[in-house]
Amino acid sequence: MRPKTGSQPRWLSAQACQAVLDRGRALDEALAALLSDFDDGRDRALTRRLAHGVLRDWPALDSMIRQLVERPLGKGDRPIHFLLAVALHELRDGREPDHAVVHVAVEAAGAFRGGRLRGLVNAVLRNFLRRREVLEASVAEDPVLASGYPRWLIDRITADWPEQGEAILAAGNAVPPLWLRVNRRRWSRDQALAALEAAGFVARAPAHFTDALVLEDRARVSDLPGFADGALSVQDGAAQLVVEELELADGLRVLDACAAPGGKSAHMLERADIDLTALDIDADRLARVEENLQRIRLNARLQTGNAADPEAWWDGRRFDRILVDAPCSATGVIRRHPDIRWLRRASDVETLVATQRAMLDALWPLLEPGGILVYATCSVLVAENAGQIQSFLERHADARVIDHPELPGRAVGPGRQLLPGDEDCDGFYCLAARRLQ
Ligand SMILES: C[S@@+](CC[C@H](N)C(=O)[O-])C[C@H]1O[C@@H](n2cnc3c(N)ncnc32)[C@H](O)[C@@H]1O
Repeated sequence: MRPKTGSQPRWLSAQACQAVLDRGRALDEALAALLSDFDDGRDRALTRRLAHGVLRDWPALDSMIRQLVERPLGKGDRPIHFLLAVALHELRDGREPDHAVVHVAVEAAGAFRGGRLRGLVNAVLRNFLRRREVLEASVAEDPVLASGYPRWLIDRITADWPEQGEAILAAGNAVPPLWLRVNRRRWSRDQALAALEAAGFVARAPAHFTDALVLEDRARVSDLPGFADGALSVQDGAAQLVVEELELADGLRVLDACAAPGGKSAHMLERADIDLTALDIDADRLARVEENLQRIRLNARLQTGNAADPEAWWDGRRFDRILVDAPCSATGVIRRHPDIRWLRRASDVETLVATQRAMLDALWPLLEPGGILVYATCSVLVAENAGQIQSFLERHADARVIDHPELPGRAVGPGRQLLPGDEDCDGFYCLAARRLQ
């Protein structure tokens, strides 16, 4: 049952967090299902913001609730555990007055099991307000509680990035800006800036990102001028650099081997009149490529198939360019998807590394001699990035790395790495290799 008014976003965000943490669902999917018949834009945004906040601070919130309740809540009352987490997040965040947070949480609890846990919610939150200094001090002393990440991920990131590890974890807890991509077939960056300004939005044009704008305020994407007809799209700056490494030109035959939902396919088509095959293993996700391309009114050949098994789908004609935007740990985009840290397991990384390797080996022979393969991930883990490519280069003597010192990023052996927050971007790795004649 749903409570009314301001308590509704609290209740829905609690349910979304429970779907992620207890049932392993992706947050965006859980929110889409919960908000499907919920029209109010501000409440949708609030629900999302609260869920993000809880997932970022989950270890601390969970630990505090356990200290504050007299007895752990039973399995059936688990929704109240998450409602308390939402309220504690709001009390710690301080945007709303304490009494308003407590009031709305108690009201939200009224919709659960005839309201019999309203008293408990009230008592726990008031107990927190009395003991908050001691509780906060205990959180600050514990690296897992203080950072908001699982132990294995803290260890893995700091092992790979001993100097930058803490900054990477902190950047994953920051709220990212909204990056836009200007469709240069439709607008120059200046025209896009002018259209945004005329509609009341403030944006900036970052150097080194030729098609990108960064919006200074929060906005609903559908409210942006040019979004509906494909003149503007949402895409992080780091992802927009991939197209530079592909060195596109009209007439080239290009494979986007992991294409869905189609952000990079769209960018490539906006840049040049290429003959593009957009491949993805997931037919449902491939449908989103179609939607995205329809919005920008450009075309590609859509193909469902496994990039590691070209026999099943390849027509035998080689490609001039291949993009492998590989499935990865997504540890570079945790600031946009705080659920990733709870959904990934340590063992997933080795499985992903094996998949990436199989794709690279299967696709390399499909590249025309003289052609370019670009490998990209939104990971910060060395095994998926420079480590993966180092071993690829050892296996393929006919591959030559193309350096791009003009592009933003850290040179990390073979390839370019942006860490989350570098240039205000997501964490991202990219490498271009040419196949020798
Ligand atoms: C990082 S996402 C790609 C994002 C996309 N390039 C974009 O810019 O919008 C990785 C994609 O790889 C797909 N994928 C995973 N394993 C695959 C495989 N073996 N063959 C082809 N695609 C695969 C996933 O379905 C997912 O859509």
